[in-house]
Order: sequence, then C-alpha cells, then structure tokens
Amino acid sequence: MQLRALGRSGLKVSPLCLGAMTFGEADASSFMHKVGCDDQTSHAIMSRALEAGVQFWDTADVYGQDGLSERVVGEWFKASGQRDRVVLATKFRFVMPYGKGASRAHIIRACEHSLRRLQTDWIDLFQIHMQDLDVPEEETLRALDDLVHQGKVRYIGASNYAAWRLVDSLWTSRSQGLERFVALQMQYSLMERNLEKEHVPVAREFGLGIIPWSPLGGGFLTGKYRPGAPPPEGSRLAEWKDRLSRVDAPQNWQILAAVDAVAARRGATASQVSLAWLLHKPQVSSVIFGARSLAQLEENLPAAELVLDAADLKELDEASAWPLHYPYDFLHRIQGRW
Ligand SMILES: NC(=O)c1ccc[n+]([C@@H]2O[C@H](COP(=O)([O-])OP(=O)(O)OC[C@H]3O[C@@H](n4cnc5c(N)ncnc54)[C@H](OP(=O)(O)O)[C@@H]3O)[C@@H](O)[C@H]2O)c1
Repeated sequence: MQLRALGRSGLKVSPLCLGAMTFGEADASSFMHKVGCDDQTSHAIMSRALEAGVQFWDTADVYGQDGLSERVVGEWFKASGQRDRVVLATKFRFVMPYGKGASRAHIIRACEHSLRRLQTDWIDLFQIHMQDLDVPEEETLRALDDLVHQGKVRYIGASNYAAWRLVDSLWTSRSQGLERFVALQMQYSLMERNLEKEHVPVAREFGLGIIPWSPLGGGFLTGKYRPGAPPPEGSRLAEWKDRLSRVDAPQNWQILAAVDAVAARRGATASQVSLAWLLHKPQVSSVIFGARSLAQLEENLPAAELVLDAADLKELDEASAWPLHYPYDFLHRIQGRW
C-alpha cells in the first residue's frame, strides 16, 4: 500500500487506517456491547491488516469498558513484537475511572494509563477525542506539547471539534510556538458530509490531514441493509436501533443506489466504493474503517487501490449532495468556492 503524508506533517501513513473500536468483547456497561469481536479475532485482524500494509491504527481509551480496546492492541504488540511497524493513534478526553477532560492533570494521567495498557513507550498520534470548552485550549496544547518533548507522544491530533475552536487552537499553537494538530478525525462519509462546509477548508489552509471515522456509516454503506428489510442479525445497526431509524431515510437509500451502480461498473463492492470515494478527496490522508471479522477486513482492503473516474465521483457526489445555505450558496455563486 502506497503510504501518504498525514497532512503537512512528516508522518507517513497507509491510506487505510485500522479502527480498533470493535476490538474485545465489551460488557453491558460499554456502548460497544455486542458489536465488537473477541480477542482472538481482533489479533487475527491486526496481523492480517499489517501484513496487507495497513500500518496506521486508531484506538481510544474509552473503547470497550476500562480501556479494553487499548489492552487488546497492547497484548498484540507484546505477542507479536511488531510495535515498531505500526503508526499508533489513540485518544483521551471522555470519561474513564480516573477522570475526564482536556486539563493538564487529566491529559498527563490519561497518557500514562494508555501507554501502560498499550504496552508501549510512545504514542505516534495522541488525539483529543472532543473539544473541551471547560479548559482553555492553550492549557491543553501546553500539556500535549510537554508530552511531545518528553518523547511519549510524537504528533498530536484533534477529533470532533467545531471549526471555530479548531482555528483558535491552530492560531494558539502558531502564536505560542507550541506543537500543533497535524490531523483532524471527524465523521465523514457519503452519508455525512457536513464538515465540507468549514472543516475541510480549515484543513486545507492549515495543512491538517483529515482521517474520517465511520466511513461506512457503521456498516450501512456496505449494502447489507436494504429498504424495508430487517437488519442482518448480529449487525451493528440491528443492535443500535435508534441509529438505524435515523439512517433509514430516502437520501441514504439514494446514496446506496449510486454506490451500487458505481460498484457494478467497477467490479467492486459497495464497501470498497464507499471507502475509495473518501480516498479521492484531496484533504483526506487516511480512512479509519472498522472490520469485525477477517472476511470484512479482506473485503475492505482493496479499497486502497480502487480508482474511481470522474463519472463515478460525479454520480456519488450528486447522490450525496447537501444543501449549501447562506453564506456558502452566496459565496459559491459568485466565486465558485468559499
Ligand atoms: N473520533 C470519534 O469520535 C470516533 C467515533 C467512532 C469511530 N471512530 C474510529 O473510527 C473507526 C471506525 O468506525 P466504525 O467502526 O464506525 O466504522 P465503519 O467502517 O463505518 O463501520 C464498521 C462496521 O461496519 C461493518 N462492516 C465493516 N466492513 C464490512 C463489510 N465489508 N461487510 C459488512 N459489514 C461490514 C461492521 O459492523 P457489523 O458487522 O457489526 O455490522 C463494522 O464493525 C473506529 O474503530 C474508531 O477507531 C472514531
């Protein structure tokens, strides 16, 4: 797999990033209950992904109860001795038994806990899972900057930020001479394109690499859900009924029809087309996909090499188009962009 730069940083990552949110069988206290996979399957997925060239992996302290996902990844590092070959991303910010938030105190504590669970001395990309309006951005950045200087963290990234806060953060880094975010992890897929309004232009201007999460809409864009049919047993959207009712909307079925049409022309699958569409977006560095079985992983891997032509992209863009609204419609009409 051809490596790509993560934004304007010197870090090189594979176009597909392995999402570890499903690793480990979480108990009923976790939002991941019944939608993950056991340790053995998780280890097999990690081994196969790395063998296929997927060297960029993403986890978080909060995936599975009490750091379960990080522990499963750490056990794989220990058993395989392959830590060096992986660009490892994790996150802090949501509630853990020892605290939450983006204060200096919690960031330093969270980093120590993650390092221990992951059985490693360093994190390649340490990300704030969501902005924290209760903490000054400068405090968060100074704590992250310290971790970089201590060698515990190599690069820092942001996830789930409002665009204004992200720009504020990037300017704070610049004006105070602190480490800056090099990556932006946001929900981005054919079904969720809202960040194209503000975040994509910010990423372009400031050299952030976008790393989309839930690129398959949690499984919807694989084509295994069909209008009027019950969700496949054991699938995520069979478990997350409220999410299923939210995505069961005419535009999403229209998007899926376009994905199916492109897939048929390309001799590809719906998952591969949905992932490849994101990989054709210039600001996207790597796509964080989920796979809960080896079969799903194998199906998703060829997306990294799938080339879509202008007609394919037009069909997918038009089916998933979103209303511009003011001021973007005004700016677009006069300048063709914003
Ligand atoms: N920063 C954030 O706030 C945030 C939030 C969410 C996720 N993430 C990151 O993004 C990663 C991916 O998120 P996601 O799991 O929601 O991504 P996704 O790729 O949209 O969905 C993955 C799920 O879709 C189904 N699936 C995947 N490939 C399939 C295939 N070929 N055929 C049939 N079904 C298939 C599986 O679920 P079932 O088999 O259960 O149906 C799988 O668990 C996570 O692991 C995490 O690292 C970040």
